[in-house]
Amino acid sequence: MLSTLTLTLTLTLKTILCLLGLLFSLGAGDPSEAKILRQFRNGLDNPELLPWPEKGEDPCGWKYILCDSNKRVNQIQAKNLNLSGPVPQNLNQLSELFNVGLQKNRLSGPLPSFRGLSNLKYAFLDNNNFDSIPSDFFDGLLTLEVVALDHNNLNATTGGWHLPQTLQASTQLTNFSCMACNLAGPLPDFLGTMNSLSFLKLSDNNFTGQIPNTLNNSALQLLWLNNQQGQGLTGTIHVLASMLSLTSLWLHGNSFSGTIPDNIRGLTSLKELDLNGNNLVGFVPQALSDMKLDILDLNNNHFMGPIPLFKAAKVSYDFNDFCLPKPGAPCAFEVLALLGFLHGLNYPQLLLDSWTGNDPCGGHWLGIKCNLDGKVTIINLPNFNLSGSLSPSVANLGSLTEIRLGRNNITGVMPANWSSLTSLKMLDLSENNISPPLPDFKTGLKPIIVGNPLFIGGPKTTPSGINNPSTGSGNVEPTSSNSISSDSRETKKSKRKGLVSIVAPIAAAAAAAFLLIPLYAYCFRRRKGGFQAPTSLVIHPRDPSDSDSAVKIAVANNTNGSISTLTGSGSGSRNSSGVGESHLIEAGNLRISVQVLRNVTKNFAPENELGRGGFGVVYKGELDDGTKIAVKRMEAAVITSKALDEFQAEIAVLSKVRHRHLVSLLGYSIEGNERILVYEYMPQGALSKHLFHWKNLQLEPLSWKRRLNIALDVARGMEYLHTLAHQSFIHRDLKPSNILLADDFRAKVSDFGLVKLAPEGEKSVVTTLAGTFGYLAPEYAVTGKITTKADVFSFGVVLMELLTGLMALDEDRPEESQYLAAWFWHIKSDKKKLMAAIDRVLDVKEETFESISIIAELAGHCTAREPSQRPDMGHAVNVLAPLVEKWKPFDDETEEYSGIDYSLPLNQMVKGWQEAEGKDLSYMDLDDSKSSIPARPTGFADSFTSVDGR
Ligand SMILES: *[C@@H]1O[C@H](CO)[C@@H](O)[C@H](O)[C@H]1NC(C)=O
Ligand SMILES: *[C@@H]1O[C@H](CO)[C@@H](O)[C@H](O)[C@H]1NC(C)=O
Ligand SMILES: *[C@@H]1O[C@H](CO)[C@@H](O)[C@H](O)[C@H]1NC(C)=O
Ligand SMILES: *[C@@H]1O[C@H](CO)[C@@H](O)[C@H](O)[C@H]1NC(C)=O
Ligand SMILES: *[C@@H]1O[C@H](CO)[C@@H](O)[C@H](O)[C@H]1NC(C)=O
Repeated sequence: MLSTLTLTLTLTLKTILCLLGLLFSLGAGDPSEAKILRQFRNGLDNPELLPWPEKGEDPCGWKYILCDSNKRVNQIQAKNLNLSGPVPQNLNQLSELFNVGLQKNRLSGPLPSFRGLSNLKYAFLDNNNFDSIPSDFFDGLLTLEVVALDHNNLNATTGGWHLPQTLQASTQLTNFSCMACNLAGPLPDFLGTMNSLSFLKLSDNNFTGQIPNTLNNSALQLLWLNNQQGQGLTGTIHVLASMLSLTSLWLHGNSFSGTIPDNIRGLTSLKELDLNGNNLVGFVPQALSDMKLDILDLNNNHFMGPIPLFKAAKVSYDFNDFCLPKPGAPCAFEVLALLGFLHGLNYPQLLLDSWTGNDPCGGHWLGIKCNLDGKVTIINLPNFNLSGSLSPSVANLGSLTEIRLGRNNITGVMPANWSSLTSLKMLDLSENNISPPLPDFKTGLKPIIVGNPLFIGGPKTTPSGINNPSTGSGNVEPTSSNSISSDSRETKKSKRKGLVSIVAPIAAAAAAAFLLIPLYAYCFRRRKGGFQAPTSLVIHPRDPSDSDSAVKIAVANNTNGSISTLTGSGSGSRNSSGVGESHLIEAGNLRISVQVLRNVTKNFAPENELGRGGFGVVYKGELDDGTKIAVKRMEAAVITSKALDEFQAEIAVLSKVRHRHLVSLLGYSIEGNERILVYEYMPQGALSKHLFHWKNLQLEPLSWKRRLNIALDVARGMEYLHTLAHQSFIHRDLKPSNILLADDFRAKVSDFGLVKLAPEGEKSVVTTLAGTFGYLAPEYAVTGKITTKADVFSFGVVLMELLTGLMALDEDRPEESQYLAAWFWHIKSDKKKLMAAIDRVLDVKEETFESISIIAELAGHCTAREPSQRPDMGHAVNVLAPLVEKWKPFDDETEEYSGIDYSLPLNQMVKGWQEAEGKDLSYMDLDDSKSSIPARPTGFADSFTSVDGR
């Protein structure tokens, strides 16, 4: 009320004063301008930061204010002063303004309109707390060149805002920057018509839809569209290849699809290209790999085929579907031929997920069948909703006997070279939209093309599909509807079967990366010469020239140098589908044969079972020298493509990271339907057992000292995963059942099935929501966007569990405390309540309380609502280390501690994964429907709203 009054008053005064100002020609500054500025100052929460006089009508000498030769205010340069409060809505009455610099303050409330500031060139308003922007803000800004509005929470309550059309009139605009400013809806078409625009930064908004075609041939030098919330931008990136001035193109964290166009080679000025975290497909064009970029990021897409030899200075391409992990290694020709086929069909999603790796006969390529010699014989994809055209590359698959592609929507002509497929006995293209002519098959084969409307006058068919030499090429066979319908029935049946067996790729590819593992494992163990060196398990690569197909596992004991060797048959035993595994093994992969693992687990005997969970059973295995290993075997029934992805991720990640607080992978098996991972054995099993189930299991409860040590170990393992490994990884499923304990209760983090490669810097990547309720960071649960800070949140929850002995989520508790994280926030700053919440088995004394308070504080910090307010794991390590120090750990080797129990013959470990943890909802996959993300329980989000202390 009061402010409205003041405003009206000011307006009236302004009009009068303005006239006065004109009458008494100038020389003394414009008193009305002084008034507006004073109003600005007095409205601030911290006016003292602007040392302007209370009296005086000439603002021209004031600090941060500049005037033109007519003594009119033309610049406000008050950036980075910590100014807090609103800006007067009549700011545009300073009509000569050409440069406004108010960035990096804490200005709030609505942005004033800049309407009519016809001299305005520069407007820096970024990094404030403005909460709305008027729709006439850009009206009449005819000389505008640079605008920065980044990092303001504009119009959030009404679902964001759209760039007003009037901005188009600012034809001299060169820089427009509005990152994280809540822009929503489609990218406006007019951006492509603003010819001066060179630098466009629109990252971290809520844009949807496609890149507008108006950007064709745009002269933009910099285009940042990365990390749109939710699904983000869609469609192809083809138009960008026409933007020849581009130097920096950031598209990561969206849902772009399609291929990288070949004509990307035209972007000769391009230095940075980030495509991380999209749905891009297909081969990486040579044109791109030849570009001498500074940075090229292709992670987390569906790129296929060979990894080219890149010329970029810094390149990353993890989590794609390349056939082999080694740059420059050529794919099998069958793979190339089939990927060419896929290209013609525009990469249908269903096939993308299963056509991976370098062996189409490995059993997981949907719709592909092979003979006993491992040659592709059948492509069977009827009624798969395929569109696009047929690729000439299929002609390279000389072993094909049947191609069944009926009832799709395939267009174009059949490539002439298909006629060279001499083994082909059946080619069914019925009910598509193929164009004539058909090639002449020398064998006389007649493709089935009934139901293709472009073949008028009677299609050539052989209803039986059998090569019939008596039908000459000119003959037209009438269609027998009987034979077609029986064919349909058959294909329907086989489709159903095909769907059941959809399995995604096992990284035949990722596997070869393993050549390095034994070396790593060995070096890692060796490093610490001063100790009684632990025994290590080394898996030797099979020598490809070795005709004996045995795989050897050698256990080298560094103490006495003795080596015990375990030899199993690694032979490519034929799996049930009759398809040989031989090529996979010949690829020189470092695997353990299933037979070896059968031997060491007594054929997966029930008495060796250590645990059972989401996708299989963990067995204890014992090598002939007594070395224990943990063997995680996927159950055939749960081999879904998701489970296989996790399997692959686990191999891929553990081959890159080795740390004393991360569980080591010792090997793996892929044979037929067997998918097995082998880990070090952790005798005490999962932390959850000792924290939540110690009573039932008749275990000792964990002492405070042990809990502190465990917290520090986990923090160190996670710190490594986040920042110290070559790349930054996000675990996504940190919780007590994934923290394993050695005999001395030192901890290692395990289960890397959900790990994601983190994008560079603080950027987030959009992923399918996965993890476990109770530990999920709110921003991740809501937007699916994840950074390493989501792990920090989970770590905070684990700290709360260590403090209270309560599970993160327990629906049996009273409603207000079901969610530990939410409840803990309410009680943590109240000493009495906090004390009452501490696990009763801990004997809390005054000196313990100090460290308990510090951990409670840290737990709160780690679970701050805003990811940016959470510390990084390095900070957690720094907080925890002195506490552990104080508590005098078991040995004096905290830093050097290797997680190895020297009293045992071996560093042992097991993944005691997934022992019954009551409300464990892990591996929720909500991929199919984002809308089905379960609503957060009431009170959960609310309890976080006060976190930032406002
Ligand atoms: C900014 O001002 C707030 C109070 O308004 C104060 O708490 C904060 O420390 C200041 N920041 C800086 C960097 O001066
Ligand atoms: C932003 O919100 C304000 C207040 O709700 C509204 O008046 C304004 O038109 C919105 N801005 C735009 C650009 O839509
Ligand atoms: C983003 O836009 C969608 C609709 O397009 C809306 O539902 C969602 O709330 C928006 N997100 C934010 C954070 O504004
Ligand atoms: C425009 O943006 C580019 C790229 O961020 C920057 O180098 C340049 O300094 C900006 N120009 C102005 C006038 O701020
Ligand atoms: C078949 O493909 C054509 C062109 O690719 C397309 O226009 C048409 O909508 C598709 N039909 C169906 C049923 O998908």
